[in-house]
Order: sequence, then C-alpha cells, then structure tokens
Amino acid sequence: MEKYKNIICEILEQKVGLPKEETLSLIEQPDKKGYGDLAFPTFVLAKTLKKAPPIIASELVKTIETPQEFSKIESVGPYINFYINSEKLMEHTISEIKEKGDLYGSSDLGEGKTVIIDFSSPNIAKPFGIGHLRTTVIGNSLYKIHKFLGYNVVGINHIGDWGTQFGKVIVAFDKWGDSNRLKNEKEPVKYLYELYVKFHEEAEKDPSLDDEARATFKDLENGDEDKMAKWAMFKEISLNELKRIYKILGVEFDSYNGEQFYNDLIPETIETLISKGITEISEGALIVNLEKFDMPPVLLRKKDGATLYATRDVCAAIYRYEQYKFDKMLYVVGAEQSLHFKQIFKTLAIAGFEYSDKCEHVPFGLFRFQEGKMSTRKGNLIFLDDVIKNAIDLTKEIIEQKNPNLANKEDVSRQVAIGAIIFGDLTNDRIKNVIFDWEKILDFNGETAPYVQYSHARISSIIRKSEANEVSPDYSLLNTEYEEALAKKLAQFPDIVKESIDGYRPSVIARYLITVSREFNRFYHNCPINKEENESISKGRLLLSQATAQIIKNGLRLLGIDAPEEM
Ligand code: ARG
Repeated sequence: MEKYKNIICEILEQKVGLPKEETLSLIEQPDKKGYGDLAFPTFVLAKTLKKAPPIIASELVKTIETPQEFSKIESVGPYINFYINSEKLMEHTISEIKEKGDLYGSSDLGEGKTVIIDFSSPNIAKPFGIGHLRTTVIGNSLYKIHKFLGYNVVGINHIGDWGTQFGKVIVAFDKWGDSNRLKNEKEPVKYLYELYVKFHEEAEKDPSLDDEARATFKDLENGDEDKMAKWAMFKEISLNELKRIYKILGVEFDSYNGEQFYNDLIPETIETLISKGITEISEGALIVNLEKFDMPPVLLRKKDGATLYATRDVCAAIYRYEQYKFDKMLYVVGAEQSLHFKQIFKTLAIAGFEYSDKCEHVPFGLFRFQEGKMSTRKGNLIFLDDVIKNAIDLTKEIIEQKNPNLANKEDVSRQVAIGAIIFGDLTNDRIKNVIFDWEKILDFNGETAPYVQYSHARISSIIRKSEANEVSPDYSLLNTEYEEALAKKLAQFPDIVKESIDGYRPSVIARYLITVSREFNRFYHNCPINKEENESISKGRLLLSQATAQIIKNGLRLLGIDAPEEM
C-alpha cells in the first residue's frame, strides 16, 4: 500500500501543495465496498481553499489524470476514493514477491540503529517453567522483526543466576543433597529443583534456614571459593538444559550475560550513584528515594551489604549503554514488573543518564494454564519441557491420522507442535492474559499455526503436482473477487511488518497470517488451479499460490515458526 499512498501524496503535493507527511497521516483504508481501496478526506483543504469539502473533492478529481496504478479515482461527498488497478497490482505483487523471496517485506528502516532486546531471562537452578514462555516467544519474534527491518539487534538473556535463591539451593544441597545423584541424574535440574522445594518446606518450619541462605549468598558475593564452585556447577547444569530447550524452540541469543556477570561492576555503579547525590542511607540500607515521583524507594544495598535484582539492573543498563550505545533497549518482561522498571528508568534519569528514555519495558499479561499463576515455590511449577513433549505427542497423533504416509513425521510433528505453542501465544494481544488450551492451539481449522502451516503445505503440494511449462500467465484473466482479494492481502505484507513493531505487537503478523490463509483457502475452493483448462489462467493462479506460500513462510519465520513443505 505504501507505493499507492506515495502516488496519492505526489498528486496532492502537486495539485494543492499538501506536504507528504500530512497526506500520509490522513489517507484512510476503507474496509467497505464502494469506498475505494484508499480514500482521502478533503476537510484539511477547506480553510486554505475556502470551499466546502465536497466541492473541493469533486473539483480536484476532475483535474487528476488517473495513473496506471489506479483503475478509477472518484469523489464521493468530501472524499476522494482511489481504486487500485487489480491487474497491475497482481502482476506487480507476484513478481516482487518472487524476486525478493525470503527478503520480501524486509527494509532498511532501522539501518544504523542498535536495539537491545532483553528477553527470556529465566531464573536458573530450577527448570524452565511455563511462566517464561511468553517473554521467550515475544522477545524472539521482536528480535526477528527488528532484524528484518534493518536494525542492528542484540538479544540478551539476562539469566537470573544470582541472588538469595542461590543461597537457598546451596544450603539445601549441603544439607540434603547427594553429589553422586546429581552427577548421574538424567534430569539434574529437576533434582536441584526438588532440593529448592524442600528448602521452602523446611524453612516454613525453621525460619533460621532463611538467614542461612542470605548469609550464603553474601559469601557468594564476596567470592567464597567453595560456594562459588558449587554455584558454577549448578549454573552449568542449568545452562545446558536451557540451551537444549532453546534449540528445540529455535531461539538464540547474542549474549548470556546474566545477573552474576555484573557482580564485579556493582561497587563502581554504587559509587557513581552516590557521587550523583541521588542515594540515601535508610535503616542501614542504601536506597534511592523516589517519593517525589510517587514511587517506593529502590533498594540498592541491604544492611548486610548484599545487593539486589534492582541494583544489578541499574548496573546492567549502564554497562550495556557503554558497550552498545543502543538507540533503544527493550525489556520483554511480565506486566507484574512494571513498577520495577519504572523505578530503574527513573533512577537512571535522575542520575543524569540521558539514555534512560531509550529504555522501554515491553510488558505482557499472565499465562494461565489450568488455574492461577504458577508459583515456583510451592512445587507446582509447570515445566516447559513437559509441555513441549506433550504438544509433540498430541501433534504426532493428529498427523498419524491425517497423513499416515508422511516421510519425516518426527520433524514435522516437532515443527507443528512448537508452532502451535508459539502461535497460541502470539495471536493474542501482548498485554492480555493468555489461557493455554490444548484443543484450541492444535485445531487444524482454527486460528492456529497448524492451520497456517497446513495452508502452506497445501500450496507446496499443488506446486509439486503442477507440470513445469513455459506458458506465461495472463493476469488480466485473474479477475474473480477471490483472486483480487488474495493479491491485495499479499501486497499488505511489508506494511504489516512495519505496523507490528509499532507497539511491539507480533500479534499483528499472526492475525494477518490467519487472514492470508483464509483468503487463500477461499480462492482455492473457487478457482481451480491444476484443473483449469486455460493454461494462462492456470499459470497465473499457480504463481499467485506460490506468492502466498512465500508470504506465509516469511511471516511465520518472523514469529519464530517453521513452515514445513509437507504435513
Ligand atoms: N529473571 C527475571 C525474572 O524471571 C527476569 C529478568 C528480566 N530482565 C531484566 N533485566 N530484569 O523475573
């Protein structure tokens, strides 16, 4: 659409001197038939031209020579309605998609700009829970979208590998753990988690355990060798397991600098904040008072000298700016941490770091699975690994029924299952809560990844079955409403990608892919391809289908989902 909008801008600039930005902001895209594909309301011109908008519209239309990209330009009341020339659009869209292939929809919008995306960032020494699924899939998609739009992107996994919880795991391991078992355990992280759960059960009876854990963490911060060695071992075990899951999900990071990474830099950060005069001592602790901003204080250093999650976030922001000179830094973290990020950004701001306004929290709603938010403490954490396994098993059953002869069932089941999980999240508005429903996300006819992937596989099969020939397509014959609607949908893709980073909404792409698939299936039922007698029509439809497959593939890729050729 951008191309068409630009033409309208040129016309209005030439005829009435309206600047491009203003025209762009006014052009509408009516959904209703009879209102044009694009429409320009002439109200803004009333003042300068000193005429009523309907008169302006009808007079202007008379002076415009219809460019070949449009089939008709007419005035209706105060509006000028532009009708796109479908034949040209069809031809242009199909050839451009074919030419650009995997790059269709990409742009250099972000050229020269660096964006940091802090995402996933689970707390380790316990299994990867379902609670961190949303940040992982939303962050990964935002990563891919930004890259596609030309940004220099740095994906950071701010692993939660520090803090009192590590004190707890070490205390629990020393008291009840068994090194041999940990070594030989098939799922060592689950074993560590059992110890962590036991710690909480015991601490309810004996609160002195909590003091012990705090003291142990303090020792860690001071570099106690024996404790650091245990910490390093737990971290390695956890990281291996995490990386295995990221591999299945197809997620990668540029940096795994977690909270512990900043330990050595913290004293300097604290010095800096003190020297900026923004800290106070309160009951022995070092804080940043944010009362003036209606926020609770940021606790930087506890009375016993231990630092906190917030301290490490301030430190990390400073470090990252020095490292990357980012133009934007996104924190993809649940909405329940909104206050935390407001406090961090405010602290940076009053300390005089002007990049504080380049930092943005990208929040999302809760993930509900059965009921209630999953707590990690009481031992009812839902493991992502189990969810993935279950999804793959269910998908295998479905595929077994639908296509028993499929060659690489294992691979395809994994691609479809992972796709279903990711899409089941990303079709939702980011900020809304998501209810995980197996039947819904795996419904091959629903608004799901399997449905979109299946449309893609169906096109691939049509292409395989069609005979190679040299017939050229005749786009003027692809004139049913189904063909025109599909081509118009496909042409929107580049705009959709740009729209999706506005407000960081992968859902825009997910929803779009549903409509593309629906539009394709409507077309497919009404317009025969391989059974069509007229070879020029058949060829045109084949090329239109091929372009559709490319769009689905490109769109799914931006969500982090594969598009199998067969399923
Ligand atoms: N580990 C944290 C949690 O699970 C999320 C970290 C997000 N990133 C950050 N820079 N604070 O709640």
